[in-house]
Amino acid sequence: MRARTGRPSGEITRGTTGHNRLRRADRFLTAVYGSLLVSAERPLVVDLGYGASHVTTTELFWRLRRVRPDVEVVGVEIDPVRVAAARPYQRPGLSFAYGGFELPVDRPPLIVRAFNVLRQYDEARAFAAWDLLRSRLAPHGVIVEGTCSEVGHRASWVALDAAGPRTVTLAARLAGFGSPADLAERLPKTLIHRNVPGEPVHAFLRDFEHCWQVAAPYGAYGMRARWTAAVERLAGAWPVAATPPLGGQRRWRLGEVTVPWTAVAPVLYTT
Ligand SMILES: C[S@@+](CC[C@H](N)C(=O)[O-])C[C@H]1O[C@@H](n2cnc3c(N)ncnc32)[C@H](O)[C@@H]1O
Repeated sequence: MRARTGRPSGEITRGTTGHNRLRRADRFLTAVYGSLLVSAERPLVVDLGYGASHVTTTELFWRLRRVRPDVEVVGVEIDPVRVAAARPYQRPGLSFAYGGFELPVDRPPLIVRAFNVLRQYDEARAFAAWDLLRSRLAPHGVIVEGTCSEVGHRASWVALDAAGPRTVTLAARLAGFGSPADLAERLPKTLIHRNVPGEPVHAFLRDFEHCWQVAAPYGAYGMRARWTAAVERLAGAWPVAATPPLGGQRRWRLGEVTVPWTAVAPVLYTT
């Protein structure tokens, strides 16, 4: 749905992007939602707010095509100049469209990836955007909405379906990783302002940091071993996803940890 003015829903914001910035989220998408992609009829994927360059949409296209060779990907951007700049990179199955949260596509998307888009809105608008995007999904569809550092070494995202937010994932490049506290500044917009005492996400990060410190001896075996040991300890107190596709050793060794949204949702969040 377009705003009454006929203009796309949302605002032009900074267009920062870069090669491989969203690699971690794409790896999660293909591992966790690959079977959804394979089983769907004519799957359409939207990359919302791709920024100043087509690169992350094109990378998503090729990654998803390895899983589902006929998947269609549409990059949607609210800045018409950025749409014009991306269009020369269109190819069969990959296109770029001018629009906003209303999603100007010809059928409901199975997957929407939106990265580093909502961070530039205020919290209430981020929640409202979630609601609008959820209403546009195809049956069984999902949204992966998140935030990451400039080069994508630290990231977090929420996975949502039509009924609401389902999971929250933190992900880090383990080479050169400091500690879980470093992930706080990369929380999704709907959580970042809640990293204060009394809010569940604050308690979660505090406990993860503690587990990381306790797991220090495992650092002798490498950062993967330390991350895995910290996450295993964290799972003693938090409902960490511990089996595939969302959890377990394989995902933890990549520097990921996933919990249900309900475990870290803001205190006053009701949906
Ligand atoms: C920081 S860039 C992110 C680029 C890329 N997704 C990434 O993470 O590297 C955010 C982009 O989202 C676009 N944007 C903001 N609100 C939007 C909306 N409602 N619909 C479509 N694009 C939007 C901005 O114009 C900007 O180009």
